Amino acid sequence: MINERKVAVVGCGFVGSSSAFALMQSGLFSEIALLDANAEKAEGEALDISNGVPFIGQTQVYATDYDGIMDAAIIVITAGAAQKPGETRLDLVNKNVGIYKSIIPEIAKRGYEGILLIVSNPVDILTLAAVKLSGFPENRVFGSGTVLDTARLKSKLGEHLSVDGRSVHAFIIGEHGDSEIVAWGSTNVSGVPLDTFCEMRGHYQHMEAMRQIAEDVKNSAYEIIAKKKATYYGIAMSVVRICRAIVMNEKSILPVSSVMHGEYGISDISLSMPAIVGRNGVETHIPIVLNQDEQAKLEKSADTLKTIAENAGL
Ligand code: NAI
Ligand code: 2OP
Repeated sequence: MINERKVAVVGCGFVGSSSAFALMQSGLFSEIALLDANAEKAEGEALDISNGVPFIGQTQVYATDYDGIMDAAIIVITAGAAQKPGETRLDLVNKNVGIYKSIIPEIAKRGYEGILLIVSNPVDILTLAAVKLSGFPENRVFGSGTVLDTARLKSKLGEHLSVDGRSVHAFIIGEHGDSEIVAWGSTNVSGVPLDTFCEMRGHYQHMEAMRQIAEDVKNSAYEIIAKKKATYYGIAMSVVRICRAIVMNEKSILPVSSVMHGEYGISDISLSMPAIVGRNGVETHIPIVLNQDEQAKLEKSADTLKTIAENAGL
């Protein structure tokens, strides 16, 4: 029996513990269960986060085992190796597919009925791995995808245009990684075409400015990892955003990573396209307009991911 107010986090390193901390502050859940291969680490994080609970309200935060997370509405999986400076997300594939082979069967064999939210990298490949290893319906297994990259993009565009980033409608699509694409063709500011808004704000070198913003967003994680070895606060907030869409049945349109079946001409790989997310997970993709260049880049991103997935035996 699923408890709609319970979330579990598997993997309590930087990303898992920051996500649990942000989830505690969100007030979305009355129970937050933590699990890590290092049981003491999960216990320590649970105790530490619990010390913050009195400032927020009533949430139980505790460490547990696989039996103890089966009634969670959402299991967020952040377990796995992270990039070292100079590594790409795709470099993590073999190690983390191996880790998923030890985690997902534990969840699947217990007949889990909730949603698996994949966060570990490379998130698109691990989402496909989780779908295949679990055999769960695909709407219930999806990745955080480019939700974080899209937040980075909106924020940078907001700064550039001197407007609240939340008024910018934009998506990063494809891989959460080096082949990601900005869907410029569908980007607008509250319905005003991007070029028109740029000119309104006194910017006329659109192409160069947009190219630089896309580059900065793509390299954002590399810059942070070079300076502090890991990224975790942005993804923690992305996890909260996605969990909120699920728990509140918001039917929000988010660029999560899910398995494609012919949409945009892409099949048999998980990547990010805008999708409606609610209580049942991913409901459906929405057909945003891509120009020729974006479509070609999306197909290339999918091919890159397919090659990596095949080499990883998926
Ligand atoms: P970390 O090294 O701090 O933590 C990893 C945790 O996973 C450790 O506590 C470890 O004990 C645990 N773990 C390893 N094997 C396990 C298993 N079989 N079962 C349970 N727990 C296990 O790494 P960090 O910085 O927390 O990153 C975690 C993952 O999240 C990485 O793959 C990283 O690339 C990814 N990440 C993804 C982002 C995204 O946007 N999707 C953003 C930032 C990081
Ligand atoms: C991020 O984009 C490293 O995937 C991680 O922050």
